[in-house]
Order: sequence, then C-alpha cells, then structure tokens
Amino acid sequence: MSSTTETTLAPRTVASTQSEMTEIILPNDTNILGNLLGGRLMHFIDLTGAMAAYRHARTHVVTAAMDHIDFIYPVHLGDLLTLKSSVNRAFTTSMEVGVKVWAENTQTGEVLHVASAYLVFVAVDKSGRNLKVPQLILETPNEVRRHGDALLRRQHRESEHVRRKKARHAATAEEEVLAAGE
Ligand SMILES: CC(C)(COP(=O)(O)OP(=O)(O)OC[C@H]1O[C@@H](n2cnc3c(N)ncnc32)[C@H](O)[C@@H]1OP(=O)(O)O)[C@@H](O)C(=O)NCCC(=O)NCCS
Repeated sequence: MSSTTETTLAPRTVASTQSEMTEIILPNDTNILGNLLGGRLMHFIDLTGAMAAYRHARTHVVTAAMDHIDFIYPVHLGDLLTLKSSVNRAFTTSMEVGVKVWAENTQTGEVLHVASAYLVFVAVDKSGRNLKVPQLILETPNEVRRHGDALLRRQHRESEHVRRKKARHAATAEEEVLAAGE
C-alpha cells in the first residue's frame, strides 16, 4: 500500500471526487421509438454517481435515494452519452452527489444537456454498518452554491419523510378503526 491517507477521514476536495463515464447508445438500451430507456439512463446515472461517492468515501457505498431527476431531451440510438458527477456535500455518513448528462449526435456533433439528477449515497463497511465520511473542501463559488443547495434538498427530503410517515400512520389508524367496526 502506497499511502494511508485515502482511507482516513481527512477532508477531500470536490475536484478529487469528479467522475465521468461515456457510453454509446445501442439498440438494447432503447425503446421501440429508438430513444434511450429512462430506466437505463437511471442505471448510468447511479453508476456515475457511485464513482464520485467511492472516490470521496474510499469505502463501500450504497444508494439511499435518487430524489430528483430531470429528463430534459430524449437520447437517440447511436448518440454518445457523457455523464459527469461530483460530491456536492458530505453529511455524517451520507453524501449528496450531483450527476449531469449530455448527449452528442455523432453525425452533427451537436451536444445537448439531456438530464440532471441528485443522489444520496451512504458509506458502509463490509457488514453494511454505516461509516463516517470525510468532509468536503470547497474551492470554487459553484461548489459553495451546490454545497448550500444540497443542505436545502436534505431538509426538504427529511420533511417529506416525516410527512409520508404521518400519512402512513393515519392510514393504518383508519384501517384499524374500520376493521374494529366490522
Ligand atoms: C441507506 C441505508 C444504508 C440507511 O440505513 P439506516 O440505518 O436507515 O440509516 P440511518 O437512518 O442511520 O441514516 C444513515 C444516513 O443515511 C441517510 N439516509 C437514510 N435514508 C435516506 C434516504 N431515504 N434518503 C436520503 N438519505 C437517507 C441519513 O440521512 C443518514 O445520513 P447522515 O449519517 O449523513 O446524517 C439503508 O436504508 C439501506 O441499506 N438501504 C438499502 C440500500 C440499497 O440497497 N441501495 C440500492 C443498491 S446499492
């Protein structure tokens, strides 16, 4: 082993998490209209997002949420798809990663921004126990902006979680009242 620093909790830069993947869209990836399937795109997004999370956490990671995704334009058979990711914010054991996707028409060279997504990954050990992640070093105004926005999205996610939990409890209580009256 050359160094131990990669496995410590020493803060890391956003740049050190940046990851990229390029795919050519083949018939197996498309629907009958010849457009990239949404689920296939989500798979590519998950993989590229995980690369950034791995580079930050330097341990195993699992996807906890893919909570916002915009499909802006369709991607066509034969297009070159480029996905770029980086960690927006490190929390305690989780990280928010942003992924941006472009499609390039190989005949015309036109490049379009076709999708963006935010994902949350949690660092875990081999037994699945959560592990702390290093904090992030912010070096550019854009990184500072994304870091702030990630906190707002986390707060929104948490309030949605509470709302759904309350709705589930209310539905269960209603079912119990109905069952008691039968
Ligand atoms: C994600 C998972 C590890 C969370 O485990 P847990 O014991 O419920 O976690 P906790 O409630 O202790 O939360 C741990 C962290 O995950 C975050 N988290 C948990 N569920 C989340 C969700 N749905 N969305 C966003 N973040 C989430 C928490 O905010 C917390 O972050 P923090 O430590 O940075 O504050 C667990 O639910 C899991 O293993 N899910 C399945 C993952 C999976 O199979 N993914 C697909 C294949 S990789």
